[in-house]
Amino acid sequence: MDAGRARAYEASMTILKIARMGHPVLTQVARPVADPTAPEIRRLAEDMIETMIDANGAGLAAPQVHIPLRLVVFQAPGDRSDPGLAEDERFDHTAPLTILANPVIEVLSEEREAGWEGCLSVPGLRGLVDRSAHIRYSGIDLTGKPVTRVARGFHARVVQHECDHLDGVLYPQRMADLTQLIFESEARHHMRQAG
Ligand code: NI
Repeated sequence: MDAGRARAYEASMTILKIARMGHPVLTQVARPVADPTAPEIRRLAEDMIETMIDANGAGLAAPQVHIPLRLVVFQAPGDRSDPGLAEDERFDHTAPLTILANPVIEVLSEEREAGWEGCLSVPGLRGLVDRSAHIRYSGIDLTGKPVTRVARGFHARVVQHECDHLDGVLYPQRMADLTQLIFESEARHHMRQAG
């Protein structure tokens, strides 16, 4: 895209305010998106992507921007299991981007995996969360086309985390051991322990 078009595109996007833990919108069950092809849904998804990238997140769900609809955006690259990002380390936003309305998850095996998570609605913290290691998820994209994918590892984790937001669940509620809820700035201690 040339510079003029890039500027016009940037000018059309908005960085949205992110709801933080304690805001009631984060504990609601979100409503289905009636028409994923509607222009206002595309606009919302574009603003959510912009907001996610600006905040250095792996994903974002519409309730996190105060819209109680079943819409998620996420970028799931290969594995990312370290508990914290160094301050100068940016999330890989070149990974494939997914926009999904009305997502549904099916667990494909009993296998579970513990991994470190953060959430833009729970800023500054990281938690070790047990998730299903192998899932199938489906939903509708913005052209109205059904999407179905099988996911493992970090990809499966991101999808489960984002879909939890649609049911009013934040990752600390999924934690079995709250001693593993830590400040991001202390994550280096855990990395040292892990070698
Ligand atoms: Ni989150």
